[in-house]
Amino acid sequence: MDHIRIKTAEPRDVVHSELHGQFLEHLGCCINGGLWVGEDSDIPNCAGIRSEALKALQRLAPPLVRWPGGCFADTYHWRNGIGPREQRPITYNPVFGTAAIEQNGFGTHEFMDLCEQIGASPWLNVNMMTGSVAEMVEWVEYSNQTQPTTLALERSENGSPKPFNVSFWGIGNESWSGGGNYTAQGYAAEYRKYATAYSGFEQPDFNKFADFKRKTTLIAVGPDGNKPQERVAWTRDLFKALAEYRQPPMDALDLHFYNWNIEHPEDTVTDFSSDDWYRVLAGAMEIEAVIGEQYDLIQEGLAGYPKTEGPFAMTRDCQLIIGEWGNWHRMDPSAPSALWQQSTMRDALTSAITLDIFHRNCDKLRAACVAQTVNVLNALILTDGDATILTPTYHVFDLYRVHRNSRKLPVEVQAKPLDHGVPSVFGFASIKDDIIHVNVINSDDTSCCQVKLEFDQSVDFVSSRALYSDRPTDFNSAQSPDRVKIRDGRPPVGRNGAWVADLPAASVSVYQFKA
Ligand code: AHR
Repeated sequence: MDHIRIKTAEPRDVVHSELHGQFLEHLGCCINGGLWVGEDSDIPNCAGIRSEALKALQRLAPPLVRWPGGCFADTYHWRNGIGPREQRPITYNPVFGTAAIEQNGFGTHEFMDLCEQIGASPWLNVNMMTGSVAEMVEWVEYSNQTQPTTLALERSENGSPKPFNVSFWGIGNESWSGGGNYTAQGYAAEYRKYATAYSGFEQPDFNKFADFKRKTTLIAVGPDGNKPQERVAWTRDLFKALAEYRQPPMDALDLHFYNWNIEHPEDTVTDFSSDDWYRVLAGAMEIEAVIGEQYDLIQEGLAGYPKTEGPFAMTRDCQLIIGEWGNWHRMDPSAPSALWQQSTMRDALTSAITLDIFHRNCDKLRAACVAQTVNVLNALILTDGDATILTPTYHVFDLYRVHRNSRKLPVEVQAKPLDHGVPSVFGFASIKDDIIHVNVINSDDTSCCQVKLEFDQSVDFVSSRALYSDRPTDFNSAQSPDRVKIRDGRPPVGRNGAWVADLPAASVSVYQFKA
């Protein structure tokens, strides 16, 4: 029998809630026609935001949302998205085959309204490719200025007297590719200007300059996690370039990693073999090594910074963030919009595996945003006309909410290797206020299994919830919105001081115990 041993007496780092972040981009029907239907739509909405999707996000309460892209951000001019909607410029969105008119109805205020309603911190991604430093400075001022400047008054006239207090600012997106095909050195040179011009309106105490820690996070473009050589070179070269002379602030580096599944024509999103199942699960596991590698490269880069001379010396820190992650399957030619994918139990399991990797590496990883929340790639929500469908991936995020801001526990998993080296079970555990939550994933696509859960102290079982379905290819649709749903889990049985849990095939379970 597979084993999971949990050391409750040694709580470790806090699982940052921002590891459950989201990503919304003007791409396909993520925003237009998906989350944003507009106030005049027949689809029930709350100030233009699709009501059912809003309710689902309110329930999930994602801690962080990145917007407006992605590649879209590389050419987005924020001024197009403010002011009376009927007067906003009409632009064209070619991003990833979106090929649609952009009315700019969902802009900064609409995004902030969404964040406020769902309780999320906004992450604004700045246009570094066709935008300018001045444009960024004005967006920061428009968003965060408390003093009655012309831009702050304009924000107020547009309906928001209170500042938005945006604390995450991304400078550019995938600048090594669609964001300008920069070299790391070229990006560093450009980044210096943006980072220096960014103030965030936080005033350091000049007598204690070395202690100054900004509350806002300035995020630089990290590497393409799917290119093993280039990703090392990018991070190394970026830090080397920034190590010359004085260092601009760079609070975080934004790594992107997709679990690509496009090389097997017989593997479609909803119809795949057992071999395809394990291959894609194995693909999701790769991100853990990339996190470790990039974290180490950041430490190496920081260590290579020269010691500052004279007054106003300060220590530079830099955290690792994953701004985009998820499964990227072969495109279905009949998909209703660009990068639209169904989401099956396979996507649920890869999402669970990935989130558990993030939880386990919370000492190295500060935040992560799934790509994307609605109607694009690894989506949590799909829309079909007026129907709003919660995907199996949504349910994984829902199940895993319990880990936010709890402390990870050391866990030892003893499991069998299945095809493509995928372990038969995955486990993760965290503790908060004497409540222990244990995730167990049964990765076997056809067989149920038993797992022994062992603790270093006596614990009481409280409850369990599980996500599973009849087939690994099952998904939710407008016709069957609840085929895949969270169910009450079967209680584990206490045996010889341990707990034996029955796990359905291809399932994700979360058990709650009291210490
Ligand atoms: O998430 C879809 C796209 O993938 C984003 O626009 C881009 O940043 C990445 O290449």
